[in-house]
Amino acid sequence: MNRTEIEQLADRLLLLIRTRPGHHFSLDRIAEDLVADRALLPLAAAQLEAWGYTVSLTATDIRLLGTPDSLTATELSWGLDTRFIGRRLLTFHQVKSTNDIAFREGESGGAEGTVVVAEQQVAGRGRLGRTWHSPAGTGAYLSILLRPKFLPENAPGLSLMTALALAQTLEHYCPGQVKIKWPNDIMILGKKVSGILPELAADRERINYVVVGVGININHRPFDFPPDLSQLATSVRIASGREIPRVELVQRFFREFEREYLLYQQEFLAPSLPRLRRYSSLLGQPVRLDTGQGVVDGLAVDLDANGCLVVEHNGRRHTYSSGDATIVKTR
Ligand code: BTN
Repeated sequence: MNRTEIEQLADRLLLLIRTRPGHHFSLDRIAEDLVADRALLPLAAAQLEAWGYTVSLTATDIRLLGTPDSLTATELSWGLDTRFIGRRLLTFHQVKSTNDIAFREGESGGAEGTVVVAEQQVAGRGRLGRTWHSPAGTGAYLSILLRPKFLPENAPGLSLMTALALAQTLEHYCPGQVKIKWPNDIMILGKKVSGILPELAADRERINYVVVGVGININHRPFDFPPDLSQLATSVRIASGREIPRVELVQRFFREFEREYLLYQQEFLAPSLPRLRRYSSLLGQPVRLDTGQGVVDGLAVDLDANGCLVVEHNGRRHTYSSGDATIVKTR
């Protein structure tokens, strides 16, 4: 029997013992149920250990004592109660960029809610042509494929919708500390903890699909960031002072995202505006906004139902659908 067959047996064994952690499963019974050679079960158990599971094996039985906090399809889908977000998962150890894979899924007819997840990205992409630092085993790097029925003009608000789902997720671990910096950065104590990269495939009248890329710094310690990011980035672990169960956090995010997306399809951002305003780091602040076409100085006064930032300058209110905003420190 080759290694792949042992892995397959380990997969099947896991699905069985995962149903009752701590329970003594008889090896005779398992061999019968799985129609497997009993003598191979210790090899399958060793494979589970190699995958990070803790199992106790005796001459007669096997018990599952611990599961790894790995972003595998088995762990991420265990107990997941969403309707469609994350029901189809494509998980990888290392990729260039999860957005690229999700894009290919979009092209080849992948179902709405498909999520591509990686433990590490070697060419993670950020907004405005930046890179996204994606070290192995500490964060979550994922891309969600959506096939919305609304018009392309309604797509930009998906950024703030995602930001809200992220803020509500991270709030659970860092209560009272999470802010949204319009249009799509999640901040804790002025440092970035998560970013969103939405990419759209559409013509003028119709959205073909949308890929929403999300990077979350979860268990990074200060030395996990390169020197140029150390003053700008933080993680949920640094902010909360404890190691965070990544699988639980990602499942929580899937739930929040699905709820917000269902709401968004009915009424866009209108029902979420009060919550978005509460989380906003810019409202009431003097800001410098780089719109891509120029720089505007003014006071950030509101967000509208399309996800635009309303800035007051020269005594008038102007709305901006995108840009890079910085709070201007006044003395
Ligand atoms: C930003 O704030 O600049 C956006 C960062 C988005 C990073 C995520 S990680 C998963 C997905 N794949 C990528 O290559 N980028 C996004």
